Amino acid sequence: MLPPGRVLGVIADRPLHRPQLAQIALAARTIAGHLLVLVPTAGTTPDGLSCEGLVRTVLAARDRMPSATIVTVPLAPHGDEIRDALLRARVAAAFGVTHLLSTGETMLSGGGPRVLVPRELAYDSRDGQWRGRDDIPPRYRRAALSGPEIDELLDRGNPLPEWHTPPAVARELARNRPPRRHRGLVLFFTGLSGSGKSTIAHGVSDALLETGERTVTVLDGDIVRRELSAGLTFSKADRDLNIRRIGWVAAEVARHGGLAICCPIAPYAAARAQARELARAAGAGFALVWVATPLSVCEARDRKGLYARARAGLLKGMTGTDDPYEEPADADLVLDTSELPVADAVTQVLDHLAGAGWIDPRRAT
Ligand code: ADX
Repeated sequence: MLPPGRVLGVIADRPLHRPQLAQIALAARTIAGHLLVLVPTAGTTPDGLSCEGLVRTVLAARDRMPSATIVTVPLAPHGDEIRDALLRARVAAAFGVTHLLSTGETMLSGGGPRVLVPRELAYDSRDGQWRGRDDIPPRYRRAALSGPEIDELLDRGNPLPEWHTPPAVARELARNRPPRRHRGLVLFFTGLSGSGKSTIAHGVSDALLETGERTVTVLDGDIVRRELSAGLTFSKADRDLNIRRIGWVAAEVARHGGLAICCPIAPYAAARAQARELARAAGAGFALVWVATPLSVCEARDRKGLYARARAGLLKGMTGTDDPYEEPADADLVLDTSELPVADAVTQVLDHLAGAGWIDPRRAT
């Protein structure tokens, strides 16, 4: 039961840092109303935070809010801004909200609560208060951090500054978005048979097992086809199913902080994109390495004799010969082992991972 009188509604679809908390306090004071915080709990947030994590970060800010009622609502975005805004306003109204504090994106009242557009606040380093940006001389003013700035600090394992984020909120956020060095990652190699995927993947795995900084599961194309995808053919449907299985297992490994290294051919872009999405939904990272060794080189190597059999008409549907390979447009790294020795390819992958913060950059190569 809400107390009688005005009710300020806040839809907390993101963690609340000091600037948002200051805006909420200001708005609640202005309308002299009770505060009702609605936390949408349907799927992950746009920043990849789980809904449980979001609820915990909002609760962690509780002692920084005027006396508040906090409720969770199963309110999923539908990908249509206007419709979502109307739905939010309607749900807020149903909860008794009379004034809805805009959270930056499209806000519509839908004939329901009045929409309050918050002032842009900044941190005043003279007294540690958040006030109207223009009321602070530039040399004392600190702007709120943007979402990407906050993510970057968390990804690198740097503390969120206390002037910006209450420590309890910062702790909860760091727990939900651990530094990349401790977060799960799917390292996905794609390329033709014989391109060198598997060799590079094992080289990367060995290097990381040596330093001991990561637990590694290698999902090698040939082994997966024996252990996980026995019986599948090389039709498009079966290849897609194979990649779906690999992507799913890899995401589960990465969900728990592991490094899953996959090296199937994965000739279809849509299936690779799906693997990327599964990793994201598990709160993990995804890096695509395209081993772009040309067909002529793979064919000249022909370690398994498959290309020769395909050319002789004994094997149908060989990728690159008479079956498609869709070249990735979204590769994070492209390697061509016709010019690059394996050891150098492994180093490039490790350097890429270190540069992005996924492994310790002080590693000796
Ligand atoms: S994928 O297309 O589903 O990603 P996957 O990596 O599992 O392929 O399996 C590829 C391996 O299967 C190749 O390295 C090769 O040894 C073997 N293979 C057998 N038939 C084919 C074929 N028609 N096309 C590609 N690879 C094949």
